[in-house]
Amino acid sequence: MTSQMHFRLLLVLLLSDLYSIIDVKLASARCLSEEMDLLLQLRNNLTYDASLSTKLVSWDEQSDCCSWRGVRCDDAGHVIDLDLSSDSISGNLDDSSSLFRLQFLRRLNLAGNSFDSTQLPTGFGMLKELVYLNLSETGFAGQIPSEFSRISRLVTLDLSTFSPGYILSLKLESPNLNMLIHNLTRLRDLRLDGVDIAAAGDDWCHALSSALPDLRVLSLSYCNISGPLDSSLAKLQSLSVIKLDGNIFSSPLPDFFAEFANLTALSAGSCGLTGEAPQRIFQLPTLRTIDLSNNRELGGSLPEFPENGSLETLELSYTYFSGNLPDSIGNLKMLSSLRLFGCNFSGPIASSISSLSQLIAIDLSVNHLTGSLPSFSLSRKLSSIGLRDNKLIGKIPLEWKGLKNLTFLDLSDNSLSGELPAFLFSLPSLETLTLPNNRFSGQISELESASLSPLEQLDLSGNNLEGPIPKFVFKITGLSTLSLASNKFTGTVELVEFIELKNLFSLHLSYNKLSVGTSGSDSDFSLLPQFNSFMLASCKLQKFPFLKNQSRLNMLDLSENQITGEIPNWIWEVHDGYLPYVNLSHNHFTGLQEPYHFHTHQYLDLHSNLLIGGIPLPPRSAVYVDFSSNKFTSSLPADIGNHLSSAMNFSIANNSIVGGIPLSLCNASLLEVLDLSGNSLSSSIPSCLIEKSRSLVVLDLHGNKLSGNIPDTFPGDCKLETLDLSFNQLEGKVPESLVNCTKLTVLNLGHNRIGSSPSTP
Ligand SMILES: *[C@@H]1O[C@H](CO)[C@@H](O)[C@H](O)[C@H]1NC(C)=O
Ligand SMILES: *[C@@H]1O[C@H](CO)[C@@H](O)[C@H](O)[C@H]1NC(C)=O
Ligand SMILES: *[C@@H]1O[C@H](CO)[C@@H](O)[C@H](O)[C@H]1NC(C)=O
Ligand SMILES: *[C@@H]1O[C@H](CO)[C@@H](O)[C@H](O)[C@H]1NC(C)=O
Ligand SMILES: *[C@@H]1O[C@H](CO)[C@@H](O)[C@H](O)[C@H]1NC(C)=O
Ligand SMILES: *[C@@H]1O[C@H](CO)[C@@H](O)[C@H](O)[C@H]1NC(C)=O
Ligand SMILES: *[C@@H]1O[C@H](CO)[C@@H](O)[C@H](O)[C@H]1NC(C)=O
Ligand SMILES: *[C@@H]1O[C@H](CO)[C@@H](O)[C@H](O)[C@H]1NC(C)=O
Ligand SMILES: *[C@@H]1O[C@H](CO)[C@@H](O)[C@H](O)[C@H]1NC(C)=O
Ligand SMILES: *[C@@H]1O[C@H](CO)[C@@H](O)[C@H](O)[C@H]1NC(C)=O
Ligand SMILES: *[C@@H]1O[C@H](CO)[C@@H](O)[C@H](O)[C@H]1NC(C)=O
Ligand SMILES: *[C@@H]1O[C@H](CO)[C@@H](O)[C@H](O)[C@H]1NC(C)=O
Repeated sequence: MTSQMHFRLLLVLLLSDLYSIIDVKLASARCLSEEMDLLLQLRNNLTYDASLSTKLVSWDEQSDCCSWRGVRCDDAGHVIDLDLSSDSISGNLDDSSSLFRLQFLRRLNLAGNSFDSTQLPTGFGMLKELVYLNLSETGFAGQIPSEFSRISRLVTLDLSTFSPGYILSLKLESPNLNMLIHNLTRLRDLRLDGVDIAAAGDDWCHALSSALPDLRVLSLSYCNISGPLDSSLAKLQSLSVIKLDGNIFSSPLPDFFAEFANLTALSAGSCGLTGEAPQRIFQLPTLRTIDLSNNRELGGSLPEFPENGSLETLELSYTYFSGNLPDSIGNLKMLSSLRLFGCNFSGPIASSISSLSQLIAIDLSVNHLTGSLPSFSLSRKLSSIGLRDNKLIGKIPLEWKGLKNLTFLDLSDNSLSGELPAFLFSLPSLETLTLPNNRFSGQISELESASLSPLEQLDLSGNNLEGPIPKFVFKITGLSTLSLASNKFTGTVELVEFIELKNLFSLHLSYNKLSVGTSGSDSDFSLLPQFNSFMLASCKLQKFPFLKNQSRLNMLDLSENQITGEIPNWIWEVHDGYLPYVNLSHNHFTGLQEPYHFHTHQYLDLHSNLLIGGIPLPPRSAVYVDFSSNKFTSSLPADIGNHLSSAMNFSIANNSIVGGIPLSLCNASLLEVLDLSGNSLSSSIPSCLIEKSRSLVVLDLHGNKLSGNIPDTFPGDCKLETLDLSFNQLEGKVPESLVNCTKLTVLNLGHNRIGSSPSTP
């Protein structure tokens, strides 16, 4: 016998031993045929998607049902645990179901299936041995049957739903919460999120504290329960998790939660908490998560944090917390998420924050924080930094170079200064870099390569940056937003350079010292990315850029350039005529290329050009129309017929009655601002225009040649805040109905021939 044969023999012997051991085990768990039948019936009767199911679909009638996925048996072969969670079951569970004859079940999980608003079967009440029942996200609706209160061994009951479509579709009315839990005295984990409990504070608090003094987990978010948070809750000393978000308590957060020795999570966001939050809660050594966000009437301040605190998540956004961030925040060694957005914190950001090595997300935006940026020298896991809208000063710390996992950085609206360090543009994970409205200055140095940069949003607007736009910007191919507006960038940029940035959605270059060139053919321009906003005010443009192929443009700003000639008529057709914002003011346009048709334009600013002829009829969708400081005259355009055949369908009869201001202007029913000042309009003011002050907030007709009386038709609900009719040839009296315009803050009727009137407001 070779030694190899010896070895084989040994192996066979060993294996057979092993099998016999397994056999013994299986034998003791072999499922009983009646229970197997019940399971098979259950499967036959349930509707489920075989292509998505992993459990039901795998049940093999030839094998021991105790080994089926989701099934566990006790030693006697009774099915005691059935887990059919997330098995794409979509219905057919009613009282006659064989499920409710599995009398030995101790654990049942049907979570994450979709029983599509059917009633909860009463049959669950027959499963007397259940200790664990999980029906979360099952889509059942209606009243929770009283039979549930007979499952008296339950330790865990989860009926929660967070899906918006199902919130409040399960109800606890009759039986109510009290009746449901009264005899379920063994419950330790109760989750009824999204169940409509519709109970007042003392009601639900008493029900819980009298029946379930040993409760560990209480999750009642979005349950339509109200306050106050009754002192009877203080009995629930063993609570470890409290989740009460999305209710309407209108009461303070009780102090006694701080006495709960095992509390690890307290979440009470968006539930109308008022008053001062008790500081001691934050000092609980066991607490890992506290979320009190979105309680606009909740104030307080952060306490000194004890050493080695276990807080991982601290969220107080949209509350009125104030005071300083204590230095002892550095004691929260486990802190990974700190969100204090939109509070009232002031003072410097404690430098100890930089020692928090587990920090992943910090958002301190919209506070009154002062001083300099933290170095985050030990916070190497940081993925998101939001510090916008504070009063921070100083430079971007060099230590940030090490933030290799940073994907989001927003420092907008502070007073930060200094040059932008080159590493910012080569952080390997950074997708959003938002620095507008600070005092950053100097040139941006060139990078050798940026083709691998993951940057998608780059906003440097409103700073003092100078020099040329660095070339690497044109290599960041994933860029979707590029805003460099309102800086001191110099040099020439050719529009065709943006062709490489295929994903660019939003381009803002306005108000620099740049010259933007439009050389290139129309076919080159048709290769430009499809912009949503194209903002090139004050860019020394000489020529109207060819944007005819833009199919999703929403905002176009070419104001303050040097463009001459006619406004091309194709511009009104881009994006199928949907171009809500068009600003062509401060150019040298002499006319609108005919024939043109306005479509959906809400903001239409053509002021300070050299436009002649009749006032263009603004689109019906217009909200803001500024045609001021042009050379518009009384005469209507020669081919008025073109306008009339347009979708606008204005009335020719009305137009011919009044020369200067077309009556059809009054058809723009959404109009809030109308500025026709500084033209040569003559004739009288149509009374319908005055009646329009029902919607108009600003009406400026000053500096024309308007004559006649001011129509006495200001309506009772006049919204006008500014009315300027000065420098015309108006006569008669100040109309009496002007007293209806109680919101007027600017009224100028000077330099006309209007007689003084006793009723001048
Ligand atoms: C369930 O399926 C069995 C056959 O597997 C059938 O006899 C029984 O009627 C069905 N019950 C229901 C409620 O559909
Ligand atoms: C219920 O099941 C869901 C889905 O499996 C799970 O997320 C949830 O934690 C379970 N609830 C309890 C109380 O175990
Ligand atoms: C609780 O159990 C007791 C005794 O079994 C019973 O008399 C009572 O009706 C039950 N209460 C509820 C609310 O189910
Ligand atoms: C919330 O509860 C009140 C009774 O407290 C009830 O009238 C109301 O319909 C409930 N709201 C919803 C959305 O179910
Ligand atoms: C807190 O938890 C510990 C350990 O699980 C337990 O011994 C203790 O009784 C609990 N305290 C309360 C008040 O429930
Ligand atoms: C905090 O933890 C450190 C390191 O684990 C330990 O040296 C120190 O004694 C702890 N401090 C307290 C107050 O528990
Ligand atoms: C905001 O904070 C300041 C400074 O701490 C404080 O004076 C002020 O009262 C706070 N405002 C509110 C509404 O809490
Ligand atoms: C950075 O993120 C990656 C992926 O999310 C993770 O695997 C890695 O541990 C993180 N690095 C640090 C320093 O946290
Ligand atoms: C640009 O538009 C013209 C006509 O409007 C069309 O023929 C051409 O294919 C478009 N080019 C691109 C690149 O979309
Ligand atoms: C259009 O641009 C001019 C100059 O850039 C600016 O003053 C004006 O407010 C803009 N119009 C609108 C409607 O935003
Ligand atoms: C134009 O007005 C006429 C008469 O009021 C009406 O019949 C027609 O439907 C209108 N056309 C459009 C495009 O609104
Ligand atoms: C507006 O003012 C005129 C003149 O004072 C007055 O007669 C009228 O009742 C007021 N209200 C409306 C709705 O016109």
